[in-house]
Amino acid sequence: MAINMATLAATFAATAGEVITCKAAIAYEANKPLTVEDIHVAPPGPSEVRIKITNGAICHTDLYYMAGQDPEKIFPRVFGHEGAGFVESVGRDIKDLKPGDKVLPVWMAECKKCPKCKRGKSNICDTLVYNWSNGFMPADKKTTRFSRVADGKPIHHFFGTSTFSQYTVCDEACVAKVNPDADLSKICLLGCGVPTGIGSAWNIAKVTPGSSVAVFGLGTIGLAVVEGAKVAGAARIIGVDRDGSKLTQGLEWGLTDILNTTGLDKPVEEVIREMVDDGVDFSFDCTGNPGVIYSAMECANAAGGVAVILGLMDSSKTLSFHPSKLLWGKSWTSGLFGGYKGRSQLPELVDKCVGGVINLDHYITHKMPFSQINKAVEMLEKGQCLRCVMDYDN
Ligand SMILES: NC(=O)c1ccc[n+]([C@@H]2O[C@H](COP(=O)([O-])OP(=O)(O)OC[C@H]3O[C@@H](n4cnc5c(N)ncnc54)[C@H](O)[C@@H]3O)[C@@H](O)[C@H]2O)c1
Ligand SMILES: [Zn+2]
Ligand SMILES: [Zn+2]
Repeated sequence: MAINMATLAATFAATAGEVITCKAAIAYEANKPLTVEDIHVAPPGPSEVRIKITNGAICHTDLYYMAGQDPEKIFPRVFGHEGAGFVESVGRDIKDLKPGDKVLPVWMAECKKCPKCKRGKSNICDTLVYNWSNGFMPADKKTTRFSRVADGKPIHHFFGTSTFSQYTVCDEACVAKVNPDADLSKICLLGCGVPTGIGSAWNIAKVTPGSSVAVFGLGTIGLAVVEGAKVAGAARIIGVDRDGSKLTQGLEWGLTDILNTTGLDKPVEEVIREMVDDGVDFSFDCTGNPGVIYSAMECANAAGGVAVILGLMDSSKTLSFHPSKLLWGKSWTSGLFGGYKGRSQLPELVDKCVGGVINLDHYITHKMPFSQINKAVEMLEKGQCLRCVMDYDN
């Protein structure tokens, strides 16, 4: 549906400075369906931005926190970190954003001021570090902008984004201004999964032309790794999953070989080492499963192979390994958000989508009204979708 910018501007002018009542999907406790109900969203603080979310999707990391697999287990909370929308109003210190701007809330915060941002060696920012394990606004670390309509009780934020709400409030560090021509119902996917996968191939592993690659777990993250590896010129890309339909689907993304782990009579790493002499040049775990993370490390070539961990592993579990595994120069590495900086580098990826260089359509397997978010959660849990894009006006 075409959006009338004049109507939008009038709506935003009317709500600026006011508390907004809107629908949000609240997680009251771990492992329970979300409750879609009216909440109050307070105006943004001085360094904050209030955003009308138009579209969003669900990433497996939402499921990880919703299931209470993190150490903090913060509830009640508004989850969600793949969303897109328009700036509704801004705090008094905000200079670079104005009502009506198209934006992506970005969990990969970039304040551009903290020692980590200034050091410039990675995409990690102190605001991200705070948001990772806390549910308050990073500006004061003690208040929320969400509250229950019934009793005014605060509802926690998530990852600085909380996109499972028709309106959200983000710190300036967590807002990327993007190309006004971008289609919000597509670029919402650039909030996490696609940049994480593509960037892991390009920026973290630095996949080289002619190389061999193994990708474990062919959800959105894994398929985006496959896409990145293909564009980088990898000659052989082996897809590994326990779900046969995910493997077949992956052929469309550029897999050259598929390997179903269900029913294998020997460790998958042995099978891969037999397929590719001495192991692959690059391997990626996109599952978060401890056994898979280990297998992905084992199938990388001992002499200079690179194994990348992308999946989030249950915080109650650990992995052990003998350091001699790395003695011949194998690297076992990891990274967040494909190494991209949220505000300064994500807009370039949006431009690539607008320009047709990156195709987001094939990741969107389903569309649904926001009111049916629990159905979308269930489909991701059961592996029945890649990304289900929700329309927040329904
Ligand atoms: N590092 C980051 O910045 C980052 C960002 C986003 C997501 N993640 C993590 O990446 C992972 C994947 O996310 P997603 O949204 O693509 O998830 P998804 O649920 O869509 O896909 C996971 C895939 O892994 C497969 N799988 C799961 N367990 C397996 C096993 N034991 N053996 C073989 N295959 C298995 C599933 O069949 C599925 O195809 C999650 O752990 C998520 O938390 C990390
Ligand atoms: Zn910073
Ligand atoms: Zn994610």
